[in-house]
Amino acid sequence: METMKRTKIIDVLASTAYGTLVNVKGWVRTRRGSKQVSFIALNDGSTIHNVQVVVDLDKFDDELLKLITTGASLSVNGILTQSQGKGQAVEIQATEIEVYGTADPATYPLQKKGHSMEFLREIAHLRPRTNTFGAVFRIRHNMAYAIHKFFHDKGFFYFHTPIITASDCEGAGQMFQVTTMNLYDLKKDENGSILYDNDFFGKQASLTVSGQLEGELAATALGQIYTFGPTFRAENSNTPRHLAEFWMIEPEVAFNDINDNMELAEEFIKFCVRWALEQCADDVKFLNDMFDKELIARLEGVLKDSFVRLTYTEGIKILEEAVAKGHKFEFPVYWGVDLASEHERFLVEDHFKRPVILTDYPKEIKAFYMKQNDDGKTVRAMDVLFPKIGEIIGGSEREADYDKLYSRIQELHIPMKDMWWYLDTRRFGTVPHSGFGLGFERLLLFVTGMTNIRDVIPFPRTPKNAEF
Ligand code: 4AD
Ligand code: MG
Repeated sequence: METMKRTKIIDVLASTAYGTLVNVKGWVRTRRGSKQVSFIALNDGSTIHNVQVVVDLDKFDDELLKLITTGASLSVNGILTQSQGKGQAVEIQATEIEVYGTADPATYPLQKKGHSMEFLREIAHLRPRTNTFGAVFRIRHNMAYAIHKFFHDKGFFYFHTPIITASDCEGAGQMFQVTTMNLYDLKKDENGSILYDNDFFGKQASLTVSGQLEGELAATALGQIYTFGPTFRAENSNTPRHLAEFWMIEPEVAFNDINDNMELAEEFIKFCVRWALEQCADDVKFLNDMFDKELIARLEGVLKDSFVRLTYTEGIKILEEAVAKGHKFEFPVYWGVDLASEHERFLVEDHFKRPVILTDYPKEIKAFYMKQNDDGKTVRAMDVLFPKIGEIIGGSEREADYDKLYSRIQELHIPMKDMWWYLDTRRFGTVPHSGFGLGFERLLLFVTGMTNIRDVIPFPRTPKNAEF
């Protein structure tokens, strides 16, 4: 077969160079046809769309043709032709075909369309070859790019925070431990506590739950930074919105108060949603047509209005009124409760019908670093709540006052020896500052319309599941 430079299918489909010889390479999605001619739908991942390869069966060897089944990989030389059929502008009249790899129809799992999402999760090594996961993972890439673009264009610096850490940012005790100790022969002191002196780091270490604390150090030097990296939570919650390993984007800005923080969050998330609509139009349209007919309308919907801003206390009042009017929630509603996703979604989907930023939560249900309000009961927290998702962003203005932060750390019995470096930001040139964390997969749930977070990350890590 004549060697030619490969053209990606996305470029072939946009080409009008009819009559020229091109080479495409990809995987067979379907093959259909008659005794004289075969139509092969070939996909190379560059786009949701396949190119149609037309094969005149008389011109090819039967032994070769037999190998061209769903899942097989091919290199095709052929003439780019204006298509007569509907649904595509161009097709390729094959002149030469090489089969790189076969896919035995008896064992290749992606034969038919319409596999359940549960089944596809079991074959996560092959599911990127489906239309749906191709679309989701192309969108995932594009959103990562959009996030870097948004912050870079605003003059933020991408700051790398450690993945292995000795501090628990959220203080929720959901950390995975990192150790090289022999678990069958742990050294303990007379009280039965494990001795970490001989462990790799000489102390107890874990995978990070958030880059925020180190991000604050950077913000109080570089002014405005963001992190974008993997985070880990050993929370045993088997829900469609929780992963044990997820990616988080955490901007942190010196001199921003909570209002600046809310403005940044709203502008940021709208930028991302607009990017998905404009830059991933083909993939979003596919997901809209195949899975969720309201996806595009929902994306356009959040761009339209400004987000509602409301205090937690006002939010509780609305929920209590709904309960009084007969609305049934699974979990109770009262001042002080950590809102469940059903409560958040009621505010967004039923009550206001647009995204809500809830602020000033009770300090007991929020992390130690949040700025304390004068009422002594609440902190300057802000959660952004989204339709279908609930909490998509969590953030706050930070406590900048050394004494207040110190006493909160003591109240919560956070080991001070682990926190000295964090407290130093409040000892030397402390400034008001704010930040937030966006769960990358929660954003992807929203822009793809997928309903399970396991379907927007290539290899999900959840309780009892670390396959692949
Ligand atoms: O609300 P969280 O716990 O806030 C923080 O970690 C702060 N340190 C962020 C900051 O202020 N810099 O988490 C932030 C976001 C949540 O709103 C949610 O979108 C996502 O991270 N998230 C998860 N996503 C998937 N699986 C999980 N288990 C998640 N936990 C939180
Ligand atoms: Mg939160």
